[in-house]
Amino acid sequence: MPLPYPLNPSLSSLPTYQPGRPIDEVAREHGLQPGSIIKLASNENPLGPSPKALEAMKHVLENLHLYPDGSSFHLKRKLAEKIGMEPGNLILGNGSNEIIEFVGHALLHPGAEVVVSEYSFAVYPIVTALFGATLVTVPARGFGHDVPAMIEAITPRTKVIFVANPNNPTGTVAPRSEIVDLINKVPANVLLVMDEAYIEYLRDAVDFLPLIRNGLKPNILLMRTFSKIFGLAGLRLGYGIGHPALISALEKIRQPFNTNAIAQAGALAALDDDAHIERTLDNNARGIRQYEEAFFRLKLEYIPSSANFVMVRVGDGVRIFAEMQKRGVITRPMAGYQLGEYIRISIGTPEENARCINTLKEVLSAPGGWQSS
Ligand SMILES: Cc1ncc(COP(=O)(O)O)c(C=O)c1O
Repeated sequence: MPLPYPLNPSLSSLPTYQPGRPIDEVAREHGLQPGSIIKLASNENPLGPSPKALEAMKHVLENLHLYPDGSSFHLKRKLAEKIGMEPGNLILGNGSNEIIEFVGHALLHPGAEVVVSEYSFAVYPIVTALFGATLVTVPARGFGHDVPAMIEAITPRTKVIFVANPNNPTGTVAPRSEIVDLINKVPANVLLVMDEAYIEYLRDAVDFLPLIRNGLKPNILLMRTFSKIFGLAGLRLGYGIGHPALISALEKIRQPFNTNAIAQAGALAALDDDAHIERTLDNNARGIRQYEEAFFRLKLEYIPSSANFVMVRVGDGVRIFAEMQKRGVITRPMAGYQLGEYIRISIGTPEENARCINTLKEVLSAPGGWQSS
């Protein structure tokens, strides 16, 4: 029914973000037991939350009648200590998704341009459109960012460049020298948002922190999250790192209590759980090898990944996704990214990976499958 009042015109063409399918929803749809389903669709941590975080969160439950600390004093102080910054360099978000939206509020308007790469995180175009700004999509190079071309794409109207490194959904990493070049060449009046959602999986990442610490680059914002390596996606907690003047502007935009008390307590404790991080990295490295070996055996092309997921070419990605889902294995079709022949698989436990590989093999060799003839 058309509404009797006008909506924001941007909404008429705005897509709704399609997340990985939740286990319960797939169970209802296919008449499966939730416990029999594995979800490898949203790049979550298959080892679960840090046990230290779980313990810490229990202790805040009895105080849930109180509002959380709106300034997240303890979490910001701990985070700042961990990365050698000041609390004034940090903003917390309801997931790093919310920080992307803060950037929109702070910088985007009709006529402004946002530079992204082809095959980049789906929320950048959504936020760009929401604020009526124009998306400038630079064709990918080998599935990754063509950083020199992105620099070329900057115009006097460019307000923001988003670069996810490693990139989702492709798992690619931009060459170090190109990232350094980007830092040097981005004009001072353009905000470079480095989305580091998967940075902890990269052993030799370009370290932006000194540039921000020394106040040298007020036009760089780093985004990180507790959703991936920390295993706390359900809490919804991400953070931005930037110049104090940028951070205080973003602080005006956020809701007073955008990060809840349970999330603050869980994240605080997770920062102390190095053992959980090490276990996660080890599981991930083994999982990547497990998939690479399987793809080699199955003669499937894949994009070498530096993150906690891998994209593989399976023919009709939507069909393969649907067939695997019927068998209780949830992956992510990539047609929405114009990569219709691919699915993206998040790295699971060794057992989950083995089941996913067997299911993929079964589906591919079934009648109508890519490898059936
Ligand atoms: C590149 C990238 N950025 C940001 C996010 C958002 O993460 P969250 O809002 O859970 O912190 C994701 C989630 O998948 C992502 O892949």
